[in-house]
Amino acid sequence: MTSFLSAPYVSRRMFLAGSLSTLVLPGLMNGPARSETARPDLPIPKQLAPDANGKITLQAMTGEGAFVEGLKTPTYGINGPYLGPAIRVRRGDTVMMEVQNTLEEPITMHWHGLKVPGDVDGGPAEQILPGKTWSPQLTINQPAATCWFHPHFYPTTAEPVLKGLAGLFLIDDEDSDSLQLPSEWGVDDIPVILQDRRFNADGSFFHRFNLAAVTVGYVGDTMLVNGAAYPRAQTAKGWLRLRILNGSNARSYRLALSANRSFFVIAGDGGLLETPVELSELLVHAGERFEILVDARNGENFDLLTRPVDQMAMNLPPFDQDLALMTFQPNGKDGAGSLPEGLVKLPPIAELSDEPTQKLEFGMNLDDEGMGLFMKAGLPKLMASGKANPEIADAVTNAIVDGQELSMETQLSANAINGKSFDMSRVDFDVSINQDQHWVFSEGTDRMLHPVHIHGCQYRVLTVNGNAPPPELTGWKDTMPISKGGTVEIQVRFDYPATADKPYMAHCHILEHEDSGMMAGFTVS
Ligand code: C2O
Ligand code: CU
Ligand code: CU
Repeated sequence: MTSFLSAPYVSRRMFLAGSLSTLVLPGLMNGPARSETARPDLPIPKQLAPDANGKITLQAMTGEGAFVEGLKTPTYGINGPYLGPAIRVRRGDTVMMEVQNTLEEPITMHWHGLKVPGDVDGGPAEQILPGKTWSPQLTINQPAATCWFHPHFYPTTAEPVLKGLAGLFLIDDEDSDSLQLPSEWGVDDIPVILQDRRFNADGSFFHRFNLAAVTVGYVGDTMLVNGAAYPRAQTAKGWLRLRILNGSNARSYRLALSANRSFFVIAGDGGLLETPVELSELLVHAGERFEILVDARNGENFDLLTRPVDQMAMNLPPFDQDLALMTFQPNGKDGAGSLPEGLVKLPPIAELSDEPTQKLEFGMNLDDEGMGLFMKAGLPKLMASGKANPEIADAVTNAIVDGQELSMETQLSANAINGKSFDMSRVDFDVSINQDQHWVFSEGTDRMLHPVHIHGCQYRVLTVNGNAPPPELTGWKDTMPISKGGTVEIQVRFDYPATADKPYMAHCHILEHEDSGMMAGFTVS
């Protein structure tokens, strides 16, 4: 026991062994939904619309969470102890944002997915020092979408986001109004923010910049949905709209519903698709959003679950088998929403030059060392039997939690784009404004997953590994994964300028990759 008490982290197996009492254990299951009543209710972030003067006030603050029984977790939140409100605006609005930083560290606030000029984008150059306020004016001119916001300070974005600085940013427009989609907030229109976390023995969030972190990103062992472990949502009976945000630092999810129910994807990062896409599984990578409709007209309970993903080190327990993330109890009043046959008309893909105007290669300078670390721990054998071998799982976990912290210099040069690690004082490229462009994302020799995010735009995917994208990725996107040496081609256009003092960012949305050099700054003129 002594070794456990001195251990800097708490592993799930120790909980299971009963050495510490009861973190609420997520259900591991394949069958129908469990119906225990001892579940926390799904927290529903409060909606926050502009006030009568068109103003929205956000205050970054410290708080406390009760994620681990008997322990308090120091957190950050926006207008609350953990996570933030769901900002709700309409296309055409001009909103005065006021972002107050009451924390003891500098932050920025970035509107992920919003098409706004570089000088209000909230990238690394827009620092909000402790005690200061930033008041950008945002003009909303893009289709209805589920976007989000989070800080973007360089080189410490990963940890404040992990502590809870993130929130949804919802845009409505005439199309979304006219579609009869489920739209009663928290009743049949349900926000689902997915985050994995790991805790130190004192209840604080674990985070450490070591070789494992700059290689695979943050690996949690506990799932939170809107800040609660395996919560239940008591909803309307009828069609449910889930607004899914992968707000994790690094982890991808392969989402499914219990009893193999199918669902309909109606929107991706930047808005509605042309038609609903019926699926039984949906991959969601860090930073991505999807809206799905679920037929819950029969009122039966079901679980949202995640299946094992093909992402390095992310198959440690409890992610080595189907894992229930939350349960739905659609036993309320009848919902008013329905599944439309068609959604919106998207503009056709433009004629583009065959030769890309911009190539971004995501590279890792320490991938050999990082791979070596995980190979030594036996990672390739982790999934040999479907379920993780406990000894290998422990060895891999040790590499993640005990691995020595890197020097700042090593951290900042661990990853790169086009061979260069991020440098605040360098503009990496300039893009012509108001011009359809053909860009290519690719990766170096590491074959790891990189969800590629570009500021200041919503783009369309032309190809994924040379093939047409699957239908759920044919709408507006701002984050697209590349992995296993693959490529993604996009059509992109920038409507607003970004200058050298407030450039846009192109980066990997694995936040530990972003904080270790996998980011480029660019201007639009
Ligand atoms: Cu969600 Cu540049 O970030
Ligand atoms: Cu962004
Ligand atoms: Cu990456």
